[in-house]
Amino acid sequence: LDNGLALTPPLGWLTWERFRCQTNCKDYPKNCIGETLIKEMADVMVSDGYKDAGYEYIIIDDCWPASKRTSEGRLQGDPERFPNGMKALADYIHSKGLKFGIYEDFGKKTCAGYPGSEFYLKMDSQTFADWGVDFVKFDQCNADPHDMKYGYPVMEFFMNKTGRPMVFACEWPLNNLVKKIKPDFAAIRKTCNMWRNYNDIEDSFDSVLSIINYWAKDPYNMSSYAGPGGWNDPDEIIVGDFGLSHDQERVQMGMWCMFAAPLLLSNDLRNIRNSSKALILNKRLLAINQDPLGIQAKAFNLGYVQVWTRSILPLGSKAVAVLFVTDHYPGKGGNYIKVTYPLSIYGITDGKQYDITEVFDGHSMGTHNTSSILTFNVNPTGIFMFTVKPV
Ligand code: DGJ
Repeated sequence: LDNGLALTPPLGWLTWERFRCQTNCKDYPKNCIGETLIKEMADVMVSDGYKDAGYEYIIIDDCWPASKRTSEGRLQGDPERFPNGMKALADYIHSKGLKFGIYEDFGKKTCAGYPGSEFYLKMDSQTFADWGVDFVKFDQCNADPHDMKYGYPVMEFFMNKTGRPMVFACEWPLNNLVKKIKPDFAAIRKTCNMWRNYNDIEDSFDSVLSIINYWAKDPYNMSSYAGPGGWNDPDEIIVGDFGLSHDQERVQMGMWCMFAAPLLLSNDLRNIRNSSKALILNKRLLAINQDPLGIQAKAFNLGYVQVWTRSILPLGSKAVAVLFVTDHYPGKGGNYIKVTYPLSIYGITDGKQYDITEVFDGHSMGTHNTSSILTFNVNPTGIFMFTVKPV
């Protein structure tokens, strides 16, 4: 969407995968969808360095609204969980130098059964603008799938009319996938700043891998639609949650950066392992994710590993990720695999000299030309990443 926003993939934090629709604040006072959770997360985003690293959006997913609109038909936050209202919460987030995101659905109800925006697109856009919303995640439950092509552009029209710039995050191609309708990526890119292509992420490596495998297939050439202003969205970052090993957390963080994906953390930043935090804040990874060219990586298989490459700045440079996903490996791979190929295999063929740098810890792998051999090890369900930059 050409609204001047999301020129690089949006970075932030989102409630859904970690905090879901927990509305019981009596038993879960610090973890229910309400003011306390959101304000505490905004505080930590600033105090623990996430904001300085570039993470800026704090987004509340489903389950924030009261079960009924006001007598004038306006949306309102649940009065017990958001006792000061949504505008006050937005003000608080803005006072920290962060941006505020909210969720709605263009069907009659949200997926979790709260009031939806059908018949209220204009009013809800205005309500969000009045509150100071900076980001709208717009879901697709409880709507006619054939209405997507009208509903999303109409919502975008009304949001634009308010005059307040808001990132527009859609679930349009995911609905197309579920309903077996061919997605119109040209229209989707024109309407939305980012769009969910595939199933909801869960807290497991199986889930992460299913998304990576979908991206590897690159259905409908979806990678070609990613770029400044519009991004394929593989769903939230679950680094720091319960389901991934350290190597698997590196895989998710590394691959989402290769994908030029929005990085919306869904974890508890108030209580997170140092190793997870270091991955989320890794400057070299974030530089790849935020590369101004915004080119989404593509994959090919190489023996027992899967290789992903994308062009980055300065011109002539590349980022490369090598994944060792062990499913097809004899014996399933209890140990690392040794990967040894000439640089040319990664698509660098012009005979020039290149500086190679490992991405996670930043160590130099030396200067190489097209034909010199690069050797490294990749752990099972692990990743190795390097950048290749002209000398
Ligand atoms: C479905 C979406 O795909 C999820 O990301 C989340 O927004 C839920 N709906 C909320 O009900």
